[in-house]
Amino acid sequence: MNTDNFKLVEGLRKQINYHNYRYYVLADPVISDYEYDMLVKELEKLEKEHPELITPDSPTQRVGEELTGGFKQVNHEIPMLSLENTYSRKEVFEFDRRMQKELGVKPEYTAEPKIDGFAVSLVYRDGKLIQASTRGNGLGGDEITNNIRTIKSVPLRLLIGRVTDSPLRDIEVRGEVVMPKKSFDRINKERETRGESLFANPRNAAAGTIKHLDPQIVAERGLDMIVHSIPSVPEGYKDHYTTLKYLSKIGLKVNSDIKLCKSIEEVMDFCDSWEPKRWELPYEVDGMAIKVNSFDQQRRLGETTKSPRWTIAYKYPASQETTKLEDIILQVGRIGTITPVAVLTPVNIGGVTVSRATLHNADEIARKDIRVGDTVFVERSGEVIPEIIKPVIEKRTGKEKIFKMPENCPACGSKIVRQGGEVAWRCENLQCPPQVQRRIGHFVSRNAMDIEGLGGKVIAQLIDAGLIDDFADLYELKREKLLKLERMADKSVDNLLRAIEESKNREFFRALFAIGIRYVGIHAAKLLADHFPSIDKLKEAGLEEINAISEIGPVIARSVVEFFENPKNLKIIERLKKAGVCLVGTPPEAESLPLSGKTFVLTGNLAGFSRIEATELIESLGGRISSSVSKNTDYVVAGESPGSKYDKAQKLGVPIINEEEFKKFLKSAE
Ligand code: IVH
Repeated sequence: MNTDNFKLVEGLRKQINYHNYRYYVLADPVISDYEYDMLVKELEKLEKEHPELITPDSPTQRVGEELTGGFKQVNHEIPMLSLENTYSRKEVFEFDRRMQKELGVKPEYTAEPKIDGFAVSLVYRDGKLIQASTRGNGLGGDEITNNIRTIKSVPLRLLIGRVTDSPLRDIEVRGEVVMPKKSFDRINKERETRGESLFANPRNAAAGTIKHLDPQIVAERGLDMIVHSIPSVPEGYKDHYTTLKYLSKIGLKVNSDIKLCKSIEEVMDFCDSWEPKRWELPYEVDGMAIKVNSFDQQRRLGETTKSPRWTIAYKYPASQETTKLEDIILQVGRIGTITPVAVLTPVNIGGVTVSRATLHNADEIARKDIRVGDTVFVERSGEVIPEIIKPVIEKRTGKEKIFKMPENCPACGSKIVRQGGEVAWRCENLQCPPQVQRRIGHFVSRNAMDIEGLGGKVIAQLIDAGLIDDFADLYELKREKLLKLERMADKSVDNLLRAIEESKNREFFRALFAIGIRYVGIHAAKLLADHFPSIDKLKEAGLEEINAISEIGPVIARSVVEFFENPKNLKIIERLKKAGVCLVGTPPEAESLPLSGKTFVLTGNLAGFSRIEATELIESLGGRISSSVSKNTDYVVAGESPGSKYDKAQKLGVPIINEEEFKKFLKSAE
């Protein structure tokens, strides 16, 4: 092994790990994103040239392979208990009296946010993350290491330098995986445009994500993790407060809003000060965790089978207010789903004025017996759209009106329908204006065709002016006509037309996502584009072939087939094609190369060529090099002393060829 390269690679990893920590853990970066990206690129380049230097804890190796057989079960060496909790101040004072009585002294407490997330345990050995698991039943849970590794604030390696005798090289820490409110909003928006069910709250979203079998998806969901405890106290560490501070120094993201308090009164003041402030945190907090600070005292207090005796969570009352339901209006979504929305007399709930709330669907309104004119309880939990809990029956005057779903679409007047098994009513008129507007909005959005300068207002303006009815019309827009519109000067028209022109070359999967096939999100679009070389091939595919693609279920498959059965959709696609929008995968000239569509993985040392030469040869013949083996790998080329990729290929039944065979292979391909 070349020691210079090793030093270089390790040096880069150290720098990247440190800047990762500054950015994701401390939210206090000291270099620009560009400089950071350059470091990562440099490391990637060196690792590509010297794959033997890749280690599992390299910052380039966060996203691993998809799990096929479900999660492995692991036991927790020390059970993962829960926290006793209370909504009552009185009970917090009683807790303090109990502590004083048991200990014979007034203990010091810490108070810190109780995070509404998903409990996870991380095990580090020799400073490296070797296992992550869910709480499960408390005694054992699912091993989710690969998913946790995708969370950027979780260090794969602790920042402990070369201190080999530090007890904290071998530790287990526990904390909460959360979906930050921002990620939650983004993901629910994406799900909405896809016609998928929404996550009810960030906690459910985090839980659903962390149990996903594909780390790639987990990585895209933007999770975070906050560490709050250490189950087995290492020697030399005396209390919770200083231990948390130390954990932060070695790279873990901890609850930093922690306060050391001399008395329970001080604890309660701190809790009160956080009640309105908790909304400002990037994740959901439902109370404060109060802990006896000293580990020694904690040991003396012990635990029950359910929870430690030295801690209690003071939970904030859910933010609820009553107000009047003035009206129920109907919103029409991209695929025509009609959602009732409550119009409320504005009311302040936990510091935020609320004037709208979701009512989900007509069945829900009937089930809760919510009537227009009712005084209702409205609850706000974090960033989630406020919800109507129930009407205040005692306040009814008799004038309230029972809500009835109209028979016609409020926007276009078409008859609305409800398909078997669905709760939602839908307007099936594809020309329905809000649907048209939202479909176009989806088409131009960032993950789709990414056409800048086409916000909701401009789209509405173009529709109103009769310039567009569907997204294919965008490619037929004429300069002269646009110039006649208000706020459209030379420059903005040029920019817009340029952005539209550029969008013709977006990758195939983006176009597939953009055309808005129900249930086909960006991930499904990628899978489809990987499988089918062009939209024509996808169009010709049968239900079975689509369904057979791993991760594409029957609902998506059926939706794709139905989409192509609709002549209106076929017409739009023909128009996009004619306009020159890229609706094929690999460029046609590459298709004719002998190794097109074939994926290779290199492992071990080849005698006849360097890695770079081998890579270039394969690529020049149209093949692709991947750094990891999966079931999509066509060949593994194994040189001298191959690594774990060899074993993986054997396990998956991927053909393995040695250097001689590889040479022959190249010859025959040439
Ligand atoms: S300390 C129970 N601190 O809440 C052992 N837990 O409802 C010590 N939680 O299972 C846990 N925020 O997963 C601790 N700041 C915090 C917390 C916290 C959230 C979780 C924890 C626990 C659950 C109980």
